[in-house]
Amino acid sequence: MAADQAASLAKHASQSGERVGLTADRITVHGGKPLQGRIRVRGAKNLATKAMVAALLGETPSVLQDVPLISDVDIVTRMLEAYGVAVSSPDDGTLVLDPQNVEKAHFAKIDALAGSSRIPILFCGPLLHRLGEALIPDLGGCRIGDRPIDFHMDALRAFGAIVDKSYEGITITAPDGLHGAHIELPYPSVGATEQVLLTAVRAEGVTELKNAAIEPEILDLIAILQKMGAIIWVEPNRTIFIEGVERLEGYTHRAISDRNETASWASAALATGGDIFVENAKQPELLTFLNVFRKVGGAFDVAEDGIRFYHPGGALKAVQVETDVHPGFMTDWQQPLIIALTQAEGVSTVHETVYENRFGFTDALLDMGADIVVHKDGLESVTRRVPRRRLEQAAVITGPTPLHGADVRVPDLRGGFSYLIAALAADGTSTISNLGLISRGYEHIIDKLTALGADFELD
Ligand code: EPU
Repeated sequence: MAADQAASLAKHASQSGERVGLTADRITVHGGKPLQGRIRVRGAKNLATKAMVAALLGETPSVLQDVPLISDVDIVTRMLEAYGVAVSSPDDGTLVLDPQNVEKAHFAKIDALAGSSRIPILFCGPLLHRLGEALIPDLGGCRIGDRPIDFHMDALRAFGAIVDKSYEGITITAPDGLHGAHIELPYPSVGATEQVLLTAVRAEGVTELKNAAIEPEILDLIAILQKMGAIIWVEPNRTIFIEGVERLEGYTHRAISDRNETASWASAALATGGDIFVENAKQPELLTFLNVFRKVGGAFDVAEDGIRFYHPGGALKAVQVETDVHPGFMTDWQQPLIIALTQAEGVSTVHETVYENRFGFTDALLDMGADIVVHKDGLESVTRRVPRRRLEQAAVITGPTPLHGADVRVPDLRGGFSYLIAALAADGTSTISNLGLISRGYEHIIDKLTALGADFELD
């Protein structure tokens, strides 16, 4: 088989979910039935994958617990293995990552393994420290905007790295080593903040990072790096100081719970008139979501071991929401919530300020009966807490509108989950194809739907 064919097959396998137990690519859903029952969320996708990369920085093995079986984790596992990290899973949800024999990998192999993930870019700092060179393949991730990597490259250059672009991808070297730097991000980017952290911890000297992202998953990554021996000060006003150290050890850590998956199931409970207990859901990281959930008319009970989300009866109410960096309303929460908003009385507005193209998924919802108008340049009239970003958008949702079944194709991770919710809430039958994409971030999706009493068949 030709190398490019092999690469394409590997990419397809990574995206399709087969390697994480999701064999079907199409689901037929008979909607109109409330989701009821109990499910458990594990560690956050947006922490676990970064924690796995951090293991590359240690001189001894790391142990990461409560890791979800999702294709993003599978991709990072195979990339680490390509670099000589021994990865084992002694029990369900635990990963042992042994980086003691790290070695260079062939570019074609890395490119093939990277699949649809954006995590490969975070290998730069650790690989520069371990091997003196990093290769960045063509980056994937959800199609929700341009998703440039300029903040990452500028930060690496500030540390003294040399970035060479070729037709194959990007090669990064650091012939004079990596040195602490003063960096101010133009926007509190999650990935760029992680890039700086993973590079600065072993750079020589002190790094100051201004306008850093402080998402809970980032603070959990900082906790992991601190366990490894790093010295990191999180100061007020989004400033982080990192004192470089010469050696880091492995860590043992239980990944922070996946607040995005929790918010997705909460929206599913509301949209279907259901009642879902999400085991391992944590309130502190969800304060903003819970306020909005309550204002829409949802109810929740916080327990020791999780949170119960339910529709308490009565009409749902329209809300005005603006996505933002933490502690604001997360961009990943808006897509599932919009399905519930189609069932609310009145006109809701969702402003997307993080990505420039995250309402594409609403087109298919119109075919299902929703009344959603997307304003591609935002809406001037709405007061907002943060200055406008150039490319923001607004969706105006008028409800309630009964939803009916349709044939739809998963466009991206959160949009795909939203289609599942819409199909479950709709009258009649829907088919959803490209289901594998959902396995990038939702573990055991079919088992969970079964546990919640959903009526569906797999093709
Ligand atoms: N940006 C740039 N240049 C850069 C980096 C980012 O302009 O070099 C822009 C982006 O285009 C975007 C904004 O900055 O408009 C924010 O991007 P950020 O870097 O914060 O996002 P990310 O690190 O690529 C992570 C999550 C996303 C989540 C965002 C925001 C991971 C793997 N992904 O992406 O999660 O939406 O932070 O919180 O951690 C998802 O889980 O479905 C998902 C997309």
